[in-house]
This record gives sequence, C-alpha cells and structure tokens, in this order.
Amino acid sequence: MRNWGPVSPKLPRLWHGGDYNPEQWLHDPAALEEDVRLMRLAGCNAMSVAIFAWSALEPEEERYEFGWLDGIVDRLHAAGVFTVLATPSGARPAWMAEKYPEVLRVGPEGRRNLFGGRHNHCFTSPVYRKKVREMNSRLADRFGRHPGVLAWHLSNEYGGECYCDLCQEAFRAWLQRRYRDDLDALNRAWWMSFWSHTLTAWSQVHTPALHGERYVHGQNLDWRRFITDQTVDFMRAEIAPLKAAAPELPVTTNLMGTYAGLDYWRLAPHLDVVSWDNYPCWHGTGSIPDARGAWDPEGKDWRLASDIGFVHDLNRSLKAGRPFLMMESTPSVTNWHSVARLKRPGMHLLSSMQAVAHGSDSVQYFQWRKGRGGSEKLHGAVVDNVGTEKTRVFADVAEVGRVLAKLDDVVGTSVDARVAVLYDWENAWAIADTQGPLNDGRKRYERTCKDHYRAFWTRGIAVDVIDEDQPLDGYRLVVAPMVYLVKPGLAERLERFVQDGGTLVCTYWSGIVDEHDLCFLGGFPGPLRKLLGIWSEEIDGLYPDQRNAIVLDRRNALGLSGSYEVRDLCDLVHLETAEQLAAYERDFYAGRPAVTANRFGKGRSFYLAARTEERFLDDLYGRLAVELGIPRAVDAALPEGVSACVRADGKNTFLFVMNFASEMRRVDLGAAGWTDAVTGEAAAGRMELAAYGVRVLRKAADG
Ligand code: GLA
Ligand code: ZN
Repeated sequence: MRNWGPVSPKLPRLWHGGDYNPEQWLHDPAALEEDVRLMRLAGCNAMSVAIFAWSALEPEEERYEFGWLDGIVDRLHAAGVFTVLATPSGARPAWMAEKYPEVLRVGPEGRRNLFGGRHNHCFTSPVYRKKVREMNSRLADRFGRHPGVLAWHLSNEYGGECYCDLCQEAFRAWLQRRYRDDLDALNRAWWMSFWSHTLTAWSQVHTPALHGERYVHGQNLDWRRFITDQTVDFMRAEIAPLKAAAPELPVTTNLMGTYAGLDYWRLAPHLDVVSWDNYPCWHGTGSIPDARGAWDPEGKDWRLASDIGFVHDLNRSLKAGRPFLMMESTPSVTNWHSVARLKRPGMHLLSSMQAVAHGSDSVQYFQWRKGRGGSEKLHGAVVDNVGTEKTRVFADVAEVGRVLAKLDDVVGTSVDARVAVLYDWENAWAIADTQGPLNDGRKRYERTCKDHYRAFWTRGIAVDVIDEDQPLDGYRLVVAPMVYLVKPGLAERLERFVQDGGTLVCTYWSGIVDEHDLCFLGGFPGPLRKLLGIWSEEIDGLYPDQRNAIVLDRRNALGLSGSYEVRDLCDLVHLETAEQLAAYERDFYAGRPAVTANRFGKGRSFYLAARTEERFLDDLYGRLAVELGIPRAVDAALPEGVSACVRADGKNTFLFVMNFASEMRRVDLGAAGWTDAVTGEAAAGRMELAAYGVRVLRKAADG
C-alpha cells in the first residue's frame, strides 16, 4: 500500500465538480454570478471549463477572445473553485470547416462529413493540427501558470476514425514502419494469398472500407492499432504546447470505459492521470443494454454495480494503481439512455462513493448547469432550468460535497489487489472480427470477463483489470478468460507467473491466433498448451437455447461437487499433463474433460473448457480465494447486493461498504476499531445499511 499524493498539490482534496460551459451563458451574467454561489453551496471545488468553447475563444480566424474566460477562471478561483481547463479540439468552429474542409472527417464509405456534431475531426490533417497547436499554445501561455488552474482536460472523449486521403497515406506509412518496408511480410501477416489478395505495391494498400476490403482480419487489426496510434499522436501534439508552458500542470483526457475504438493502454502512458466518464443505467429492468450505459438484463442494480466496479478498476490499473478521476457522471438522469430513470434516494451518493472506493480521487458531473437547447437539454445537471438550489438533485449533489469534504485523507491512498482479470483491447477487436464460432452476438468477451470479475466483487476482493502486456508481479491469482489472441510475451509471462507459484484460470477459446490474427499451428491453445496441459481439438458452438452440463469428478482437487449448466461454447480437449476435475454430462462428448487443472512448477493452471453458469464461477473463485489466502475488505460473507472496498496508505485504512440492493442489508464488521469517517461515530459488529446506502469507515493503519 502507498499514498500516490494528490493529482495536483494545488488541491489536496477529493475533487467535486464537473463540466461547466459558461460560453453558453455569456448573455446572462446573472446566471454566471449565481453559478459561483451555487457551486459553493454544492461543495464544488473543481470545474471542467470551456470544453466546447472554440467558437467563443476564436470567433473568427486568428481573432482570439479570452477575456470572458479570464473572468470565469478568476471568479471561480476567488470563490475557492479551481478550473480544469479544456483544450477545445472536440468541436471546431464553423468558419474553420468552411475555409478548411480537410479538417472534416471522411467516413468509411469515402464521403466527407458536413460541418456538424462533434468529436469528428481528422486526426491527421496538418491544418487542424496547426489550428489546435495555435489555440493550445495561447491557452497555455495565458492560463498555464494561473493559480486557479488545476489541470488540463484534453479535448473530449477522443474517438472515431477518418478515411480521408491524408489518413490513407498515414496508414500506409504506419504499415511500412511496422513491417519495415517489407511488403512480403505484410502479405504474410495479412494472409493475402487468401482470395488472391497479394499486394505488389504499397500504393495498393487501402484502409478497410465499406465499398472495399472488410474481410482481411490482420488488416482490420492493424487499422484499429493505427487509429489508436494516430489518436495518441494527435493527443501528444495537443500536450506539447501545454507542457512547454507549464510542465507541472497535469494533463488528462476523459476516457469512455471499455470503448472499443481505442486501446486505452496506449493513451495512458502520455497522461498524468486517467479520467473516465461513467453513466450506468441504474434501476433498469430487463432492457437492452445501451451502447455505453451497460446494464444487467436481470435489472438488478448490484449486478450492474459489479460491472461498473470492473471499469473503475480498469481505469485505476491503466496507471498501475494510481488514483483516477471520475470526470463525468450524471447527478440525475442520462438523456441518451433508452429510458432516463431518476436515481432513487441514496443512489447518487452511493454511485459517487463507489468511484472513490475503487480509486477515484474525484466525483465530477456532466454537467453543472442544464442547457436550454441542443440534444442535451434534457440531460441531468446539478442546476436545472429552474436555476435554483431548491431541487432534489441539487440536494443530492450537496450531500456528496459534504461527504467528500470529510475524506481528505482518502486522497492518494491505494487499492491493493492480489487478483488480476485480463481484459485486452486487441483481443476484443480480434474476437469481434471473427466469423465463428458464434455469429449471433453471443461471443461476449467483455461480458465474460465481467462475469468472472463478479465473483470477487461480491466478496469485497480487490481486483486489477489489466491487458495482456502488463506485469503479473504481486498477484496470487490471474483470471484470463477467452484469450483468443495471444500477444507476444504473454505465454512466457503466464508460465513464469505459474512456475513461481501463481494460480491461473483460463477458459475455452484461448490460444487460437497470434498478434496478426493468424491461427497457431500444431494444436490449440498454441503457446499456452504446455502451461495448461491440454490440447483443444475442436470447439462446439451451441444455439441460444441449447445446454450441456459439467459434472464434478468425485474427490476433485477443488473440493467442489455436483453439476453446473454450460451454454454457448464447449471446447473438446484432450488431457496432456493436466488432470480432469469435471466432465461434460451430455452429447457425443459426454465424459470428456470440461474442467482441468495442471500443476506447473510451483503453481497451477485451470482450464474451463466451457462457458459455465455464473454459479460455478462463484463457487470456483470462492474456493480459490480461500485456498490462496486472498484478502477481503471485510472478513465476513457479504449479503447479496453489498460490496466492500479498502483504500489505504501507511497512515489510514478506509473501508467503503456499499449496498446496491433496494432493501436494507446487514454487514458484520467483526472486531471493533472502525470509526465512521463522515459522522465520527464508532462502528463495529453488525452494521445496518439502508437501501442504496454507503458507509465510509476508517481506522489508523496500525489500528
Ligand atoms: C459524454 C460527453 C459529454 C456529454 C455526456 C452526456 O460523456 O463527454 O460532453 O455529452 O456524454 O452524457
Ligand atoms: Zn483524415
């Protein structure tokens, strides 16, 4: 455990605030004045300012108007509210699009967009990069050393791709570097003898396209990698002038959870702190998960909370455990969800504190003041159109402000995990691109990783969510579901981890392809075969309503018994050095191994050959957690819907106990010694948690 220190020494507190768009209210000075009063009332101390303000900052080409922004930053600072200042590249002015069409993105069908929307510029355009550099340089010179500026908010939710001629050329150049100008190497990596696709000149290389090539999986992978690298290159070009003017000012950009368009592990090294925008669909029931507002079809908030915990842990892991920032969340409803449910009483504080519990040093919102027009006029905001603090939502936000103000000592404290769950973007891209074995949306790589994660969340066991490239030191258990694509180095790292005494759980459909999405030869799971001690000969896809089961062998090494339902995918494996723990119950492969264990060096590797029901995962990880002595936040079983996290440093230990159920729950805290960090009351023994209730307890580290 350690203390990482505050994101910025200017504000050694938990940040509370959110997106503030005063450029939409310059016509209403009274509102701007009122904003400051209300921010203080809500306990806000850090506002993200001018994210989409380019038109107000540069109303005409090279006519800069920063005076209004001076006033805002000064006024906030005078009131004790810091500014997280944005670079406005997320939405450019109309005059720029009109004069320089190259800044407008070109779609996969080759058509250039009209001016409109946002997050839609070409990352390659020299014109756009020049305009951004000029704007960022001016902002940095003017505000980089302002005492009221806390950090830089780079652009907004980088994302998407451009297929313009400039990007085509950039892609070709990127490939020539990656394949060291060897076109044969590219032909081999992309398996271009397939369908007579062999390229004979670099000029024949094109991006994937709706009216062109979409079925060369190696090309699709490289295109996704290029998009990430090009975005990182653009982002670094944004950062350069900011750091030149004020090297100590931290930079972040707001990520989007497990957004498929970018491999965030390649953005993170260039950020001082990771931040993300979190919009769970609380209180949903049986509806179809939104693109980004995932929720659980069973409609249980606690199951969704487990999925959100996974993403919080991913964001913490992106900087090797350093606290992150929850840059956005809604203080009430999210207008782009299928249904905009109000947060039930308690849920706003609970969902806010969940972020802090998992390692966020902030609770920030989209947005401060609700706009009057545009597509987000119905989105939740701290200050509604009524314009006063006399709303339920404002009171909820003010309560969060009061609680955060009591938790200064949480800042910088670490979450220490002994379990890692692998979730890898390149693996996700490759799995999504495959044709087979399930083409009806049930491959569900992310869902599977979250299902394995849930068994730890319900036990209050800390988990890091890492990709295939991360070190495995310090973990006792690594869970690697559906490692379809095995990146160079992963097999060796996993072998060393298990050899040295670690425990690995891997699953069906692993070790199938290499980094080029080319199938391994010689038998699956390819480079994982020796470590797992099995050979997977073939895999059976089941229709949605088809089932099989696994039956635990008598006296198996896990000490589990009975049978568990399996669905979707069943691997048919042969034991090599592994032993069988369970067999399939039915079908022509009844009696074949379905769960195996392989002793390897001082450790063990388990292979789950089929997609089991969640109950098996819960029993399996519950058993392994005890056997491996993996610490829990609370030394007692947690009732359904309750989770618990610990953040600690050498001085204090904080215990966050969270009830995501809609009924009261009791939690046994065991021995005394806790103090409620908010009320100061002693807390011990059986503690009651109201529906959607949360308690933050603390004790001295040696307590
Ligand atoms: C994203 C964006 C914000 C806003 C919110 C609405 O996170 O960053 O500008 O559009 O969504 O939920
Ligand atoms: Zn482009």
